[in-house]
Amino acid sequence: MTDFKGSTFTWLGHAVVQITTPKGTEILIDPFIEHNPKYPKSHKLPQKLDLLLLTHGHSDHIADAASVAKKHGPEVVAMVELAGWLKSKGVQRASGMNLGGSYKVKDVTLSMVEARHSTGIDDGSITLYGGEPVGYVITIDGGPVLYHAGDTAAFLDMQLIRDLYSPEIGFLPIGDYYTMGPKGAAIAARYLGLKTVVPIHYGTFPVLTGTPEELEKHLTGSGIEVLKPKPGEALR
Ligand code: NI
Ligand code: MN
Repeated sequence: MTDFKGSTFTWLGHAVVQITTPKGTEILIDPFIEHNPKYPKSHKLPQKLDLLLLTHGHSDHIADAASVAKKHGPEVVAMVELAGWLKSKGVQRASGMNLGGSYKVKDVTLSMVEARHSTGIDDGSITLYGGEPVGYVITIDGGPVLYHAGDTAAFLDMQLIRDLYSPEIGFLPIGDYYTMGPKGAAIAARYLGLKTVVPIHYGTFPVLTGTPEELEKHLTGSGIEVLKPKPGEALR
């Protein structure tokens, strides 16, 4: 069993993940809430969020970013072009990072890493350039190193993420169609050197057909654990 060292992780359906560190830092990733059919409607976000991380500009990842930012007051972190767009929508504290960079906030170090995907931002009837899609490595002081892959295909340079940051717990998309499916995610987990995988970005829409059971099958004998929380179920 993975030791979460006092941190709490809650998958909220699709790619939405909430993290609470042992020091009480509250992090939310990819807020897709109101129109997310798998979001647990009874879930209450903390009144004050410290960080809101965005992996890319697709609406199933940022649909509620501006409203969450205004209501819960976090510092928003995103690729620089996406952060700039959010500022134009009235989000005041938006920090634009770029690939390869790290940024320390309280007891958490964020590292922005590659994802293989696309990232146009739908703005009314036009699609705007959103920079590059990304993932995040989240290194908690004294705690585990997490990786949220965002939307991505499997890619060989995940080995570089392993060498640089040694992530232990990975939130990996497995739904297929828009991202890697279970087979790709199993290879990704090996490349990344993960101990534990929490599958995300599956089951939300009919085209996202990958399942945690298929991922487990592809990881048989690897020693890598697959956790299968229900949306809203806290892992600690
Ligand atoms: Ni996407
Ligand atoms: Mn997506």
